[in-house]
Amino acid sequence: MGMREVFEKNPGRRYIMFGGKGGLGKTTFSAATAYWLAKQGKKVLVFSVDPQASLTDIFQKDIFGKGPVKIMENLWAQEIDADSHIKAYQGEIRKKILDMYGLEKVPDEIENYIQAASAEPAMEESAIFDAVVDVVVQGDYDYYIYDLVPLGHALYYLSMAKVYDEWINKVTKLREDMREYEEMVSRLKREKETEQDAILNELVYIKKRINASSSILTDKAKTAFFFVVTPEDMIITDTKKAATLFAQFDVPIAGYVVNRVIPQTLLKQTIPEYLANRIKMQATHLVDIKTIFGDQLLALVPELERDVTGLGMIEKLAGIMYGDGTAG
Ligand SMILES: Nc1ncnc2c1ncn2[C@@H]1O[C@H](COP(=O)(O)OP(=O)(O)OP(=O)(O)O)[C@@H](O)[C@H]1O
Ligand SMILES: [Mg+2]
Repeated sequence: MGMREVFEKNPGRRYIMFGGKGGLGKTTFSAATAYWLAKQGKKVLVFSVDPQASLTDIFQKDIFGKGPVKIMENLWAQEIDADSHIKAYQGEIRKKILDMYGLEKVPDEIENYIQAASAEPAMEESAIFDAVVDVVVQGDYDYYIYDLVPLGHALYYLSMAKVYDEWINKVTKLREDMREYEEMVSRLKREKETEQDAILNELVYIKKRINASSSILTDKAKTAFFFVVTPEDMIITDTKKAATLFAQFDVPIAGYVVNRVIPQTLLKQTIPEYLANRIKMQATHLVDIKTIFGDQLLALVPELERDVTGLGMIEKLAGIMYGDGTAG
């Protein structure tokens, strides 16, 4: 089965992700898939939270932090500016504290707590994940293609419910630490202690939202996760390990796509020994890949003559991936 059939046979899978180690071709394949689907008449959003702004590079259009930007008929691209989302999060927390206590300015002690809490990686990931949830919940696209950051990070997003738990625990602790201060404010303002903890309630609400959306992301009927591999020993080993880990998080692995395969037909030409050796090495690794991933191997994509940037190259790659790139 090839990539085209996977899409044709599973029209309900509207959330598409490409995962893999750094630099293997996740952004390239995300863009090519988005292009192909758009050409099929589907309304597509390809998006990322990558601060490297690689969608801006591949589409040769300034996209970063600008919301959904139209690339061509049916195709939009969006790069979420994670930093500004984190700042917005801090702002919201600050505002809630002010509202709760009727203060005009966040006291230094609390400000310090907010700063400390938001420097937590969990807080950062939460803010990013929340932005992703917004993108997926608000739009009305036929397909959402999430161009992931390299593997280790991606796992983090996918286990976000857990990260949220951690963060909420930290904030709970912070709330307890603040209690002393809070009581003092209440006494000064001659008010009774607030019975309900509004911030905590809010967090629990957010957590429910996240759980609901992470259930979409792990739903085999709605989501497809593709691994990008290259014919190299270490990459194959690491991908195998990652796939096992992903399976534990119930990530619905839809298949594997091999990138940067040097065409074997070159062997028929007069080529330098160096290149002939590379091709032979790749051939042995391709045998391994076929043995390990079996019928989950969906396409072999050749090393092209230049970097994949601009719609022309994206079209070329999409043609291979969704046409004659079928792995058999
Ligand atoms: N088949 C190919 N032929 C030629 N160049 C390619 C091919 N696939 C990817 N590239 C180039 O390799 C580089 C890395 O690809 P890409 O940005 O898609 O990787 P990535 O997995 O998204 O990287 P990161 O982990 O940094 O997000 C890019 O310059 C891209 O144009
Ligand atoms: Mg990328």
